[in-house]
Amino acid sequence: MPNQAAPVRVALLGCGTVGREVMRLLSEQAGELAARVGAPVEIVGVAVRRAHKHPEVPAELLTTDAYGLVNRHDVDVVVEVIGGIDPARGLLLDALKAGKGVVTANKALLAEDGATLAEAADASGADLYYEASVAGAIPLLRPLRESLAGDKITRVAGIVNGTTNYILSAMASAGTGYREALDEATELGYAEADPSADVDGFDAQAKAAILASLAFHTRVSATDVYCEGISAVTAADIAAAEALGCTVKLLAICERVSVPTADGGVTESVSARVYPAMIPLSHPLASVSEAYNAVFVEAEAAGQLMFYGQGAGGAPTASAVLGDLVAVARNRVAGGRGPRESAHADLPVQPMGRTPTRYHISLDVDDRAGVLATIAGLFARHEVSIATVRQETAPTGFAKGTGARLVIVTHAAPDAALAATVAALGELDEVLGVDRVLRVENLGRPVSALGVT
Ligand code: NDP
Ligand code: HSE
Repeated sequence: MPNQAAPVRVALLGCGTVGREVMRLLSEQAGELAARVGAPVEIVGVAVRRAHKHPEVPAELLTTDAYGLVNRHDVDVVVEVIGGIDPARGLLLDALKAGKGVVTANKALLAEDGATLAEAADASGADLYYEASVAGAIPLLRPLRESLAGDKITRVAGIVNGTTNYILSAMASAGTGYREALDEATELGYAEADPSADVDGFDAQAKAAILASLAFHTRVSATDVYCEGISAVTAADIAAAEALGCTVKLLAICERVSVPTADGGVTESVSARVYPAMIPLSHPLASVSEAYNAVFVEAEAAGQLMFYGQGAGGAPTASAVLGDLVAVARNRVAGGRGPRESAHADLPVQPMGRTPTRYHISLDVDDRAGVLATIAGLFARHEVSIATVRQETAPTGFAKGTGARLVIVTHAAPDAALAATVAALGELDEVLGVDRVLRVENLGRPVSALGVT
């Protein structure tokens, strides 16, 4: 090939679900990639934990000494698909300090210590790319970081975890049990090494931190993101949602919150949160199934954008890794670097308790005069406005005529007020039990399925 620069030499850290596919695609598309980059892209070493498990890797490339590989003088770019905090953090810091480009899919590390990595990259002028860390194959971070850099983003929200979406869709569409669906998602390579990171919401929490950081030019870490997972969501919750024309999805919501001040100005903050919520079946997110992800981005000038695609799995994620690798390799060939992180806005993070949310509460009560008034009074005392109330037939287990089930949907209220209302409901003598509580979301649209606007 004419006018080709010296090869870009890559250290691949990790050869599991994603790493294997990175190796395959790099080898199968070597000629194409060299043409796009202007130089061959060559793997010079592959670090794993258990060498004997990797007959697919040529023996001369294989090592269990990841630090030794990263610090080799002939390595230009480090691709990290090990996951977790350590040793990934030390390995990437070594690479960045030495001016080597880094491509990583490691959302846990980025959400815990992205600032340190970004500082190390800035100090040495190295590239730090991580498109694969959020929403698998979907090009999302580069649009946020580059294409929308001239706009003001107000919200980024959607489904960012493939494993939990696979579980919830299997429970809703096929009645598959929670455990069975999780096993299937793990078998298909969607789940994290410890799948509790998926089902407890931590993976989506880390992704929300990354999205909020980029969207709002503010350093948001995982601990700033309120997080509830799906392990408490039952088949009965999903059936109750369906009865109301809704389904249940694990949502990540990152919003710019603007509050007018007394002097006519505005204070801005960031709200970032992850929780399962009922959404109307008419919402586009309701039809996102299996391990697919979908994210809405709203910006002042651009309006609403939707990003949709495969959110997990070896090949889809490797596609995003390779896109980054090509970008970093091109930058090296051109002698430059990609865009730097921007955290100049430095907005405060709004506590979850002050964030307006809307609850769906179903509770079992004594079926006698005055009970509804007592319950309505309790909501009023907490300054929570009720949008709809439905009384259903007494659930099984109650003597006929003694109990009733109330299904209440609230208007939006501060989350702390809603949580306090639910706690106080449980204390009322008239309340036999609070059966289920789920938030209701429609991401800016009326929740007409529930009669709530
Ligand atoms: P796997 O568990 O399948 O692979 C991890 C790899 O890292 C294995 O090859 C393992 O070696 C190797 N490894 C572990 N510890 C070390 C160590 N100390 N030194 C060297 N190698 C080590 O993970 P995935 O491929 O699924 O995920 C990798 C990363 O990609 C994670 O950050 C994950 O969050 C992210 N990601 C994953 C997606 C997916 O769909 N799977 C999607 C998007 C991002 P060995 O094989 O010998 O055990
Ligand atoms: N475990 C993650 C998921 C992988 O299920 O979405 C993709 O980041």
